[in-house]
Amino acid sequence: MKKTVLVTGGCGYIGSHTVVDLINHGSNVIIVDNLANSSIEVLNRIKIITGVMPLFYKLDILDREGLEDVFANNKIDAVIHFAAFKAVGESVEKPLDYYYNNISGSIILFQIMQKYNVKNIVFSSSSTVYGNPKTVPVDESFPTSATNPYGWSKLITEQILRDLHVADNSFTVAILRYFNPVGAHKSGILGEDPKGIPNNLMPYISQVAIGTREYVNVFGNDYDTYDGTGVRDYIHVLDLSNGHILALDYLYKNQGQVLITNLGTGRGYSVIDVIKSYSRACGRELLYKICPRRAGDVAVSYANCDHAYKTIGFKAQYNLDDMCNDSWKWQSNNPNGYEK
Ligand SMILES: NC(=O)c1ccc[n+]([C@@H]2O[C@H](COP(=O)([O-])OP(=O)(O)OC[C@H]3O[C@@H](n4cnc5c(N)ncnc54)[C@H](O)[C@@H]3O)[C@@H](O)[C@H]2O)c1
Repeated sequence: MKKTVLVTGGCGYIGSHTVVDLINHGSNVIIVDNLANSSIEVLNRIKIITGVMPLFYKLDILDREGLEDVFANNKIDAVIHFAAFKAVGESVEKPLDYYYNNISGSIILFQIMQKYNVKNIVFSSSSTVYGNPKTVPVDESFPTSATNPYGWSKLITEQILRDLHVADNSFTVAILRYFNPVGAHKSGILGEDPKGIPNNLMPYISQVAIGTREYVNVFGNDYDTYDGTGVRDYIHVLDLSNGHILALDYLYKNQGQVLITNLGTGRGYSVIDVIKSYSRACGRELLYKICPRRAGDVAVSYANCDHAYKTIGFKAQYNLDDMCNDSWKWQSNNPNGYEK
């Protein structure tokens, strides 16, 4: 029977791509999003790609009554919980906002799920929960820690889910630790549209490519890596959304389990690799400037993906050139993002 999946933060970058995949795999989708960091236009784009307009509630997950109504009025089988604030720097400046939105919002959601007997949950965590890993590749047995309120909000929510499962083991939980999601939908009509100055490398490079910014800031070229710049595990957002489909399938078949897994490619690329690949994608040499290292950045981080493969059969399909080509297709078709 067709399952109904509630997607919090479904208008956001990763959420919107996952919604497309869910619809294409035959799920009914309900989106709850307050549009704090996304655009209503995303719904039209989802409709163009899939032919389906998902049921949408413009709602804050902190609005307990509003969220309860969604559960009372719909028969929901599972929740994928993307809704959160995600800017590391901002979280240092506004810790209370981050803890309130990311942790209190999650608690309200889990309480309502429990009340309405919806016990399948996929949670968006992050490789940031590994803090500063001592070695690579990073696997799920590595110690966890955090260096900022955003990271703590992910780690604490992970712990809440584990404790919830101990208390009520009919809760079936997938905690997905994403590495660095980049790229866009192949159609070029769905992509990442950050508000303000982008925090992450790829959207920043995209804005240099489109001419909104002059050059890319490269933070440090004296790391112990093959070209001196930081090395990270970039994962195509389409691979990531597929990881959610596989995780959900795993949950349906393994009731009462807790799955914690990395989602990455298992391979690292340097900042210079990304700039070069993007330059090829957009057909011109992109300028960059070497700046001092940023506090807290590690030289190299990439995932060990064996667990994801063994448990849910996940293996990333796309390489860095695919990520840059798709990101450029989106950016060049939508120079102002979702704004007309
Ligand atoms: N993008 C990354 O680099 C990355 C890496 C690791 C983990 N994550 C996590 O993945 C999830 C999705 O990230 P994204 O890149 O798609 O971010 P995003 O900001 O594009 O999407 C988050 C969505 O949640 C919504 N939202 C935020 N707070 C809300 C609230 N209280 N009520 C309702 N809606 C709310 C926003 O409007 C937005 O549409 C987040 O939990 C993020 O922390 C992201």
